[in-house]
Amino acid sequence: MNRRKFLGMSAAGAGLLILKPKTAFGYEANSAVRYALLGCGRRGTAVATSFAKNTSARIVALADIFPDQLEKAKTHFDEVNAGLGHPAIDPKLMFRGYTAFQQLAASPDVDAIQISTPPFFHVEHLEGVVSAGKHAYCEKPVGVDFAQTVRALEIAKRVDGTVSIDVGFQVRSAPPFAEIVRRIHAGEIGRIASISAHYNAPASSYPDRSGMPADERRLRDWLWDRTLSGDILLEQNIHVIDVCNWIVGTHPISAVGKSSRLVVQNFGNVSDNYQVIFTYPGGVELSFSSTQFGTNGFFDVSERIFGSLGVADAPYSGALKIAGQNPWTWVDDAPAKSAPGKFAADGAFTDNLRLADTMKDRGFIESITSGKFHNQIADGVSSARSCMLGRKAAETGQEVAWDALQQNSEAYSLGMDITQFK
Ligand SMILES: NC(=O)c1ccc[n+]([C@@H]2O[C@H](COP(=O)([O-])OP(=O)(O)OC[C@H]3O[C@@H](n4cnc5c(N)ncnc54)[C@H](O)[C@@H]3O)[C@@H](O)[C@H]2O)c1
Repeated sequence: MNRRKFLGMSAAGAGLLILKPKTAFGYEANSAVRYALLGCGRRGTAVATSFAKNTSARIVALADIFPDQLEKAKTHFDEVNAGLGHPAIDPKLMFRGYTAFQQLAASPDVDAIQISTPPFFHVEHLEGVVSAGKHAYCEKPVGVDFAQTVRALEIAKRVDGTVSIDVGFQVRSAPPFAEIVRRIHAGEIGRIASISAHYNAPASSYPDRSGMPADERRLRDWLWDRTLSGDILLEQNIHVIDVCNWIVGTHPISAVGKSSRLVVQNFGNVSDNYQVIFTYPGGVELSFSSTQFGTNGFFDVSERIFGSLGVADAPYSGALKIAGQNPWTWVDDAPAKSAPGKFAADGAFTDNLRLADTMKDRGFIESITSGKFHNQIADGVSSARSCMLGRKAAETGQEVAWDALQQNSEAYSLGMDITQFK
């Protein structure tokens, strides 16, 4: 039996397997899930730090295409590990260059890998990770184009039940969101008739890298690059579309929309606003609007669901509540922590999302140690394709039906030789 199987069985199959990890693998420390970070940037570092601090997982390995990112992460995680009484990252478990994901996946010293690279690479990296028998925590979105989502579904089917796969939709794990959705599903706002949602965020920012070679700059400033990010609707606004899909219980069947680039001036080619109307089965319309520009600090992200018996309001920040026949308001047990905070580019929001990562991370590790493996790719693909539907509607200026998405969708091409980054 390999260690991955043992980790899965040792909790779930306690009756079957009474060996302690210590006996089976030599030393007790090894019983923790050995966790690795692939893509050592802002979000990746924040999430892996949350895993280190809020779960039993140990950060043991790092991988990144760029050595400076790797070194920065080593300094950070050595400090985190020291604070927790764990050893520093072994330099032999640090992998760099465009093959970093394969080297990491091949390591026998790692059980689970967090994929926090730019969206264009998610599916390729997911395939490398799970094909090597490692559990995967994969950031959203699951792919930047339709072809990648097809590949993701094939991968998920192939490895189903053998490893655990989570997708980084941590909002679903935030207690206030889980509770309001539970209430909506229990009928407290009646039949859902219409949804209004928005994602207003400040402009994304990077240091001045104007002298840098173009390919490297695209990789480092990928948020501004449509091919690498998938555009703002898919890369960032997807959290809101995912929550709407979760609430309605399915994906939209068509969309009309517009997007443009009116304010941002950086070298990239992503939009800075979207307006999309998504139609769900039964004629339920989601009116969605997003902006991603400005430096005044304003941000507001929310879903407002209008039902026959009431209205549910689910913002990232501020009162999360139901009005109507079954009034209810989320009461935080630590109110100071639910006070309005700042926009968090690393996704580690306070307010109504302050426990989102903690709960999400615990769920993933428990899925591994209990042997009750997750496979969240189908939902991840559904939300990614929903955003591709809105993106395609905005690109074409036409109504796009879900079923037509496959025919209409191009496969993105990276447009650079990635092997130059060794
Ligand atoms: N769930 C959330 O709330 C949330 C929030 C922010 C970002 N994200 C997602 O997290 C991912 C990472 O975002 P970020 O803000 O940390 O970006 P980032 O640019 O700060 O980090 C990305 C890292 O990946 C590395 N990298 C790039 N290409 C690579 C490759 N081919 N192989 C290995 N490493 C590579 C970069 O060097 C960098 O260190 C993205 O998919 C993003 O959409 C999710």
